[in-house]
Amino acid sequence: MSERRVVVTDCPGGPLLVRGADEVVGVDGSTARVERAVVAVCRCGRSDRMPWCDDSHRDRRRKTKP
Ligand code: FES
Repeated sequence: MSERRVVVTDCPGGPLLVRGADEVVGVDGSTARVERAVVAVCRCGRSDRMPWCDDSHRDRRRKTKP
């Protein structure tokens, strides 16, 4: 059995970047297959492509600034 290394990087105000994973499990238990070396997982809840980030978090940032 080979060891795999999964790295999660916190992007402040944005997604979690996940490198090296095979799948992502959502809060509802659904599983999304990872087909890229790095994926951006939404954590703001605004994405139309859950569990993936679609940059909708940027709209929230713009609206909160004066
Ligand atoms: S973190 Fe980017 S859309 Fe949610």
